[in-house]
Amino acid sequence: MTKIIVLRWGHRIRDERLTTHVALAARALNATGMILADVKDEKIQKTINSVVKNWGGSFFLEMGTPWKTALSNWRTRGGVVVHLTAYGENIQESDVMQRIKATHRDILLIVGSQKVPSGFFSSEWTDFNVAIGNQPHSECASLAVFLDRFYEGSELSRKFKDAKLVIIPCRNGKNLVSKNLEKLKIT
Ligand SMILES: C[S@@+](CC[C@H](N)C(=O)[O-])C[C@H]1O[C@@H](n2cnc3c(N)ncnc32)[C@H](O)[C@@H]1O
Repeated sequence: MTKIIVLRWGHRIRDERLTTHVALAARALNATGMILADVKDEKIQKTINSVVKNWGGSFFLEMGTPWKTALSNWRTRGGVVVHLTAYGENIQESDVMQRIKATHRDILLIVGSQKVPSGFFSSEWTDFNVAIGNQPHSECASLAVFLDRFYEGSELSRKFKDAKLVIIPCRNGKNLVSKNLEKLKIT
């Protein structure tokens, strides 16, 4: 299966919540890991470590790598770089998703912040610029739609290896089971 690693650019330490949500969405929707470009934030590392420990899987977080280093390493290893931007080729109206899939290569998926480096738009650094509609919205929303379209919904029924906590879907209430199958009381 094609691996997708998210590169988050533009994290602000005083506003760690959004980056945490990008990482949580990436993990839940089948990305392999996330690179937090240019900065390190131990608070995010701690949150992600704890989520992975309890909810399973092997999602990784790499921090502090300069974006140019991350992109050139990725391309040297044969991967493609996809940049999510409102200015890109519309995912619904163009054949961009087909062309990405036709590469059969692992993907580094860039999500930005307010104003991203102009290099992200250029073929010097990026293979595809993809718009989740051509209206500006959010990095979390664009990431979620891209992953869902790429994996065609299969990511939503994925089971996470070595999970200590598992939610059993139910019509009403909350059903959470711990590793030793002891039902937890949630309030
Ligand atoms: C607050 S938005 C900034 C919007 C920015 N003007 C742009 O180029 O998309 C932060 C990030 O969300 C993602 N994003 C926002 N709207 C998007 C859209 N319609 N399609 C794809 N990505 C989008 C981009 O990765 C962007 O860098």
